[in-house]
This record gives sequence, structure tokens and C-alpha cells, in this order.
Amino acid sequence: MRIFLIGFMGSGKTFTGRRLAERLAYPFIDLDDRIERLAGLDIPQIFEQYGESYFRKVERDCLRSTIEHPDVVISCGGGTPCFYDNMIWMNRQGVTIYLDTPVSVLVNRLLPEREHRPVLKGISSAKLSSFIEEKLAERSYFYRQAKMIYSQSDANADVASALQQALEME
Ligand code: S3P
Repeated sequence: MRIFLIGFMGSGKTFTGRRLAERLAYPFIDLDDRIERLAGLDIPQIFEQYGESYFRKVERDCLRSTIEHPDVVISCGGGTPCFYDNMIWMNRQGVTIYLDTPVSVLVNRLLPEREHRPVLKGISSAKLSSFIEEKLAERSYFYRQAKMIYSQSDANADVASALQQALEME
């Protein structure tokens, strides 16, 4: 089974994906890491030097390259489902899981990391919450096409364990 974790920046895709992969004894792929390795640059550098549209092309190609693994957990970038036909492709190739996270949690997590995230660059702390709300509203159209939606209302929940159980019931 190929499992794609999707959701906004700061929703814990990498953290949860790593743990879910351990539980299932599957390999784990972090798509952003794969992109950085392929490009030989970190993500802010790719955006700066080549622009977002180039980044989105590399992201699409890296996503497609995960097909070599029949059993795998892949944590996507926040924008991955929203470009090209990536969401349709993921739904064809495996199980997509949306980590639906309250805006207040995203704001708290993203506030200190703003400068390392090209999509949030230049957004003041006062405007961060409304920016995230708007972006999430745009992106929800894609995120909500996921086969499973996990609402992260309880900050202490063991998400990986809950997802493993839900997957077993599929
Ligand atoms: C992006 C999210 C990032 C990374 C890039 C663009 C986005 O991934 O792919 O900075 O458009 O939301 P994370 O969600 O893993 O931070």
C-alpha cells in the first residue's frame, strides 16, 4: 500500500509519516528531502534561484518517482496536492490521508519558522493567521479529495497509531 500524507505546512506530515512508516515497517519518503537531494539545493534556494513554477515541476517529478515503491509512506509538501494532477495521481496510486489541523495550531507552529518557508516569506506575524486561513480555504478543495481525513483536534493524540488502525479497517 502506498500512503500519501497531505496537509498544510506545520500539520505534522513528516513527524507522523515517519512514525507510521515505522509501525508498518514500510520505507519512508519525505518529498521535500527528495526534491532537495535531486536539485542539490534547499527549498528556499530553489524558490529564490529558479522560482516556484520550477519547484512545482521538480515536485511533480519527484512525486511520480515514488511509484518504484509498492509499500511506502510518503509525506508530501503542503502544496503538492494543489498543482498539476497530483491529487488525482495520488488517489490512483494509493491511499491519501489529509491531516486536517486547526488554524490556531498551524499559526503557533509556523510563527517561528516563517523565514524558512518560501510561501510564508515576508508575511508579518500579525497577518500570518489570516494568510493561513485564506490559503487553507483555497487548498481545501484539493485536500478534501483525500480518501481519509484525520481531524487533529487533540494535540496529544497518537496520530500514527490512529492512522494505522484506520488503515487496517480499510
Ligand atoms: C510548501 C510547503 C513545504 C515545501 C515548500 C512549499 C507549500 O512543505 O514543499 O516550501 O506550498 O505549502 P511542508 O508542508 O513540508 O512544509
